[in-house]
Amino acid sequence: MKLVTYALAGAFMLASTAAFAESHAAEEENTQLMMVEAALAGGDAAAGEKVFKKCKACHMIGEGAKTRTGPPLNDMVGAEMGAYEGFKYSKGMVALSDEGLVWTIDNLDALFLKPRDFIAKTKMSFAGLKNEDDRANLIAYLATFTTAADD
Ligand code: HEC
Repeated sequence: MKLVTYALAGAFMLASTAAFAESHAAEEENTQLMMVEAALAGGDAAAGEKVFKKCKACHMIGEGAKTRTGPPLNDMVGAEMGAYEGFKYSKGMVALSDEGLVWTIDNLDALFLKPRDFIAKTKMSFAGLKNEDDRANLIAYLATFTTAADD
């Protein structure tokens, strides 16, 4: 009798886990779309393109972007941290990625303010952007290269 109950409970849990995983994926997509929209609304992407000149020595973006000193930056807004396959991230970046952290607007803002404070011993040797508008514009520019923006 008990065994049957456990079996039933097990089957129920499996079914509900699958349903949860599905709705969770949809939720994540929604959240990413919301972050992209917020990023676009929060800054001037055209002005951000000029700020991006400071990043070009190490990062490519757009179609055909490849790894330079840093990973390509397509699909960053709302994405998991440190997820570009084949890129050798620093230990600090891997630790953040292992925590399951996502590049929300706030996290990107903190990274661009002072990379060294955001990622322990990061490989990204960039001092940071003190100007708040520069950071918001840059995040808006990155959002134009996030696929969720096209949906
Ligand atoms: C001197 C080279 C260099 C410059 C300049 C630089 N970066 Fe980076 N960036 C890197 C490296 C290397 C990493 C990987 C960091 C790590 O593993 O600690 C990185 C990581 C990142 C990440 C996280 C990527 C991921 O896959 O999660 C973002 C976002 C980013 N950079 C954006 C920028 C932006 C925007 C600028 C311009 C303001 C910039 N970077 C300037 C080298 C650079």
